[in-house]
Amino acid sequence: MRHLMSPLDFTTEELDSLFDLANDIERNPDKYAHACEGKILATCFYEPSTRTRLSFESAMTRLGGRVIGFADASSSSASKGESVSDTIRIISCYADICAMRHPKEGAPMVAAEKSAIPVINAGDGGHQHPTQTLTDLLTIRSLKGRLGNFTIGLCGDLKFGRTVHSLINALVRYDNIRFVFISPEELKVPDYITDMLKDKGIPYQEVIRLEQIMPALDLLYMTRVQKERFFNEEDYVRLKDFYILNASKLTLAKKDMLVLHPLPRVNEISVEVDDDPRAVYFKQAQFGVYVRMALILTLLGKER
Ligand code: CP
Repeated sequence: MRHLMSPLDFTTEELDSLFDLANDIERNPDKYAHACEGKILATCFYEPSTRTRLSFESAMTRLGGRVIGFADASSSSASKGESVSDTIRIISCYADICAMRHPKEGAPMVAAEKSAIPVINAGDGGHQHPTQTLTDLLTIRSLKGRLGNFTIGLCGDLKFGRTVHSLINALVRYDNIRFVFISPEELKVPDYITDMLKDKGIPYQEVIRLEQIMPALDLLYMTRVQKERFFNEEDYVRLKDFYILNASKLTLAKKDMLVLHPLPRVNEISVEVDDDPRAVYFKQAQFGVYVRMALILTLLGKER
């Protein structure tokens, strides 16, 4: 039995197979419409979500399976004090696979240790968001035709943004990636990440102004300032609109640069950008369904 806690749980060869499967699902959805008949996915979300929870539910439904779960901790027995370890032992009696989001870093890993079914980390605090990373990698591979040989700018809340931390961890395994971290001083990428890049000899740059670096980027990964992880409202209000990508700034970018965003967006991308062919964040959300279908099939041993 396999769980997914981090994108590094899969080798790059396994990821290639997963992405090939996701692309095949996109092209031939009917082929997979009954692949998970009789199987049940539990979505245990202790934190709010639109995309991750509903794309998992859509994925399992499109595979012919069924879904149970809860969308917030207050409607589960966590509100009565039940531990994650006990909850997953119960969920193991009711479902065949579980996607779990939790505000505490490491909670899905604690669950996996006691689980009789595969557990997927659907986001744990400010730590990791591996299925968002799978979504991001599939989007880049499908639209750029490669996972390597590019300069990627990651912009916004690089301190609390778990999607950023997961994506950097995953990308360092590909050749010739250059990172540009674009953030205000207070939201810089954590030291453990820059230390890891230094250890591996992977080039990175830290800048404050997006316009300064825009012409050099092949990919721009925008992020929201993570309001829910701030300790005080005043800091959030001061930083929340630090970056706003608009049509004028996008004129500085390469014609084939892609703009990605894990979403939800607040103000960091102006809606006028949505019509630009380089803005692929809504396509990215669609890729999230295909890759989660491929992941469910793989973890249930039904990928063939
Ligand atoms: N990208 C993402 O994780 O979105 P949700 O918080 O809506 O699931």
